[in-house]
Amino acid sequence: MSEGPSTTSVHGGGHFDPAVGAASSPIYRTSTFRFATTDDLLAAARGERPGFYTRHGHPNFAAVEAKFAALHGAEAAVLFASGTAAFAGVIQALVSSGDRIVALADLYGGTRVLLGECARRFGVRVEYVPLAELGRLDRALVGARLLVAEGPTNPMLRVVDVAALAAAAHAAGAALVFDNTFATPVLQRPLALGADLVWESATKALGGHSDLLGGLVAGRAELVERVRTARKVWGAVADPETAWLLERGMKTLVARLARQSETAAALARWLEAHPGVARVWYPGLPSHPDHALARRLLGSGGAVVTFACRGGHAAARALADRVRLVGNAPSLGGVESLLSLPVLTSHAYLTPDERAACGVTDDLVRLSVGLEELADLEADLDQAMGASR
Ligand SMILES: Cc1ncc(COP(=O)(O)O)c(C=O)c1O
Repeated sequence: MSEGPSTTSVHGGGHFDPAVGAASSPIYRTSTFRFATTDDLLAAARGERPGFYTRHGHPNFAAVEAKFAALHGAEAAVLFASGTAAFAGVIQALVSSGDRIVALADLYGGTRVLLGECARRFGVRVEYVPLAELGRLDRALVGARLLVAEGPTNPMLRVVDVAALAAAAHAAGAALVFDNTFATPVLQRPLALGADLVWESATKALGGHSDLLGGLVAGRAELVERVRTARKVWGAVADPETAWLLERGMKTLVARLARQSETAAALARWLEAHPGVARVWYPGLPSHPDHALARRLLGSGGAVVTFACRGGHAAARALADRVRLVGNAPSLGGVESLLSLPVLTSHAYLTPDERAACGVTDDLVRLSVGLEELADLEADLDQAMGASR
């Protein structure tokens, strides 16, 4: 990427149609492609020309994949039907029965559920290392195929040292697979820090409008080709209109994230002083355990703030029931502010012990900050917490 990220987010991967001069990419609403000759069909099947059958690839997917790859400085990327499908594609491509995966315990709950399925159903061994026990990571990695990590983490916003994780994984002959959903390429580019594959739920900040599901994986061409083959074989494809919406959303990623992070930083400070709040986790605040690392790696605290309510779970639930402007919904990264209680949503399927290992308590609220005015968000949270005091 030679130009700046704002320019790449607008122009990267777009394809200009000289026939009509449309300023945005056309949507090719097709499941298949037709050919003048069988020789042409065979050339497309070999990947020598774009468009064969949509499960294999599609021009609207290619536009998003090229934009994501450019933003991450990657050789290649591949689009999936959801973030979870993207991670499943990585596992399907790189892991076999009998292999061992080491994962940091602080992961989105759904990622842990998927790894649990791999262990129960497909004979893959999974070992979790909590962030507090990173000292035993090198030993755990001996004989492992993959190291799975995420950062900033959902929902505690823990920031991990990607370069150190990559070095540890590589020393053991393992590959580092990194979930960058909360950072996006605007805040962090894990491939440049040594990760082998980066993936993101495009459902969140990349799409940015809470109107689509998608997932993207990027990395070296050879690895991404294996993941693309997994998409073709297992079939977790997006559709052309979703890809087009995602391309449109990604054009404003840098501008949205800048404004949302600015509002989130101000809200985090406001929450820290609020009598209804027991504790705030925001990487941009000096009180966050990884503040120094966040300053070095991310440069900004991002658009999500997590806080514990004084009054425990009942107070968190009352707040969620009383917000009017902020939505009570299990997602994040959109232009509209949303909150959710991780114990009931992102981490509902973990056992209490598993939640405790990554610091997820039942008084937590995860707040994804949108593009509304700061004062309006403060007023809404204040009335919702005031009512619960
Ligand atoms: C950090 C993180 N990774 C992955 C996912 C899964 O993404 P999707 O819902 O698009 O499958 C989520 C969803 O909340 C998430 O928060």
